[in-house]
Amino acid sequence: AMIDKGNHRHFMQKEIYEQPVVVAQTLRAYLRRMENEVAMPDMDFDLGAVKRITIVACGTSFYAGMVAKYWFEKFARVPVDIDVASEFRYRDPVLEKGGLALFISQSGETADTLAALRHARAADQIIAVVVNVPTSSMAREADLLLPTHAGPEIGVASTKAFTCQLAVLAALAANLARAKGLLTPEEEAEIVWHLSEGPAAMNEALGHDGDIEAMAHLIAPARDVLYLGRGPDYPMALEGALKLKEISYIHAEGYAAGEMKHGPIALIDEAVPVIVIAPSGPLFEKTVSNMQEVQARGGKVVLISDAEGIALAGEGCMATIEMPKVHPLIAPLVYAVPVQLLAYHVAVAKGTDVDQPRNLAKSVTVE
Ligand code: G6P
Repeated sequence: AMIDKGNHRHFMQKEIYEQPVVVAQTLRAYLRRMENEVAMPDMDFDLGAVKRITIVACGTSFYAGMVAKYWFEKFARVPVDIDVASEFRYRDPVLEKGGLALFISQSGETADTLAALRHARAADQIIAVVVNVPTSSMAREADLLLPTHAGPEIGVASTKAFTCQLAVLAALAANLARAKGLLTPEEEAEIVWHLSEGPAAMNEALGHDGDIEAMAHLIAPARDVLYLGRGPDYPMALEGALKLKEISYIHAEGYAAGEMKHGPIALIDEAVPVIVIAPSGPLFEKTVSNMQEVQARGGKVVLISDAEGIALAGEGCMATIEMPKVHPLIAPLVYAVPVQLLAYHVAVAKGTDVDQPRNLAKSVTVE
C-alpha cells in the first residue's frame, strides 16, 4: 500500500506523532487490561528457568536494549549482557546452554544483528527477537517472536519503532519477573496500569512540540551538543545524541550524568549546549548536581523534566521542556518524544534532508 505523509511535512514527523497510537496498539498485544496481567505469545521453553540474557542490536534498537537491561535486572533479577551486534561475535562471548539471546531490530534484516543471531543459535541459546517486520529473516529464525506493531517506518532515523520496542521489552521484563515468582498480582497490576498510562502521557509530551520548535534555534548553531541522563535515562541521552547526529549533522554525545566529570566536563563552555534528561524521582537530585557542575562552568542547559523537577531546578537554565509527571517505568517512552522532536526541529531549522540523511540507510544489510 502507498504510505503518505498526511498532514505532515516529513515521514519522521508523522512517525513521531503516531507514537501514542502505535504504542497503545503494541501494548494491547502484551497486556490483558481486564485481568490486570501481562501476556506473551506461547513459548515452548520455560521462561522462569532463564538464568542469563544476552541482548544484541544496532543503532537505536541497541539503546532500547540498554533501557531493557535496567528492567530485566530490576524486576526479574536476571543478569544481562548487552553488545552492539558488530562487536558481539568477535569477543568470543561466553554463552551457556539455556541462556536467552534477545535480538532487537526494526527491520529484522540488519546484517550484523542477523549474523549475531546465527552465532547465538550455534551456541544453543534460546532465540527471542523483537522486530517490526514480521516477515523478516530474524522473525523467521526466532524461537520466540515478539512483534512491535509500529507499522511501516519510512524515516531513516528510527522513532516509533523504538518506543514500541520499549513497550514490548517492558512487558517481557514483567513476564520474566512473574515467571520467576517475583511479582505479586498487585505488583503486576501496577505495572499493567503504568504501562497503560504510557500512550496518554506520550500524547501530552507531543503537546509541547511548539515549545520545542521555538527553542530549536538555540541548538541549531551549535557545533557540539552534550546529552546527560542517569539510570534508564542514560540510554535516552545516548538516543537523543544519536537522533541529533543522524539528521542535523551536529556532533553530539550522550553521557551518564555522573561520568561527565571524568572527561566531557572539559568541553563545557557557552557554545556547547547541554541537554539534561531528568524526570523527578529517585535519581533527580544526583542528576541536578551534575547539571549544576555544568552551569558553574558557564554551560547552557536545556532541562527536560516534569513541573516538579522544573520548579526545583529550572532556574538558570537556557530553556526547559516540560513533560507530564510519570512513573519511572514509562519515563523512557515519554522522554523519547522531546528528544526526537528536538532533533527534528533542529534539522528542519538547518534545512537538512530529515527523512533521508546523507550516508545513512534505513536497513544496513552489509556487515
Ligand atoms: C540503521 C538505521 C537506524 C537503525 C539501525 C538498526 O542504522 O538508520 O535507524 O536504528 O540501522 O536497524 P534495525 O532495523 O536493526 O533496528
